[in-house]
Amino acid sequence: MTRQAYVNGRFLPIGRAEVAIEDRGYQFADGVYEVIKAVDGVPRDLERHLARLERSLAALRIPPPMSARALALVIGEALARNPIRKAIVYLQVTRGVAPRNHLFPHDARPSLVITVRRAPFPSDRERAEGVAVISLPDQRWGRCDIKSISLLANLLAKQQAAEAGCREAWLVDGEGRVTEGSASNAYIVDSEGRLVTHPSGPRILGGITRSVVLELAREAGIEVVERPFTLEEAKAAREAFLTSTTSLILPVTRIDERAVANGVPGSTTRHLARLYAERSGIPEAAAGL
Ligand SMILES: Cc1ncc(COP(=O)(O)O)c(C=O)c1O
Repeated sequence: MTRQAYVNGRFLPIGRAEVAIEDRGYQFADGVYEVIKAVDGVPRDLERHLARLERSLAALRIPPPMSARALALVIGEALARNPIRKAIVYLQVTRGVAPRNHLFPHDARPSLVITVRRAPFPSDRERAEGVAVISLPDQRWGRCDIKSISLLANLLAKQQAAEAGCREAWLVDGEGRVTEGSASNAYIVDSEGRLVTHPSGPRILGGITRSVVLELAREAGIEVVERPFTLEEAKAAREAFLTSTTSLILPVTRIDERAVANGVPGSTTRHLARLYAERSGIPEAAAGL
């Protein structure tokens, strides 16, 4: 099957899909994106993703390329043309094509690109054993709530994590507090069984998975505390885990080469993973746990 990409109104085989070299996404990373899971052609939490896209675009004063309804139709078409059972939709909007100039162009039309691929969910082994994270300084900008395609600091951190044999980097601010991962949100369970995670705001990306997991936790009677936690607290926590659209809920069992509690996924993490698997229709989310 040749994957089909959507580029500014047309579907093309992915190898022939192109954008102009003066696209401001290419020149300035002047754009935003979304990553959406889809099961059997049906996108999950689409409204939340499209609402976040709208917020990201508004924050950068990029006009929406089309209405949310039209966008949902194009996403549906992209999924129909790429029949993958468990898929990830990547959607990117940039300010458009214009001669290179830092100032916003007056007449550029936003560029919209959509691609679909197989969802790279974590392996059963990663879920069963949990993953290792490394702590690194958070070197990002002051608007991490915008899902900007400008991800240099994130990918440098992720690369450093991989080179240290870790799945993810947990980013630590100037006060020693964990903000989030390079591509995921970060959580601990404290000694009282409370679920603790950094509050939403400009320091983190408000994950869609995060919003779902916090809802599920509250419904299940788990106390949720949205406050920053320190790296020291994380290392002494009863449990730790991370979430993202593609990682789902992933236990963190090592931080900076030190085991979290007894080094195996904790019961609250496993409970939440089962609830998330049920809600999202993705049994993989709880497989191996
Ligand atoms: C920096 C960052 N934080 C959090 C997340 C998790 O967001 P979501 O659950 O919407 O995938 C991501 C996802 O890519 C991310 O890049």
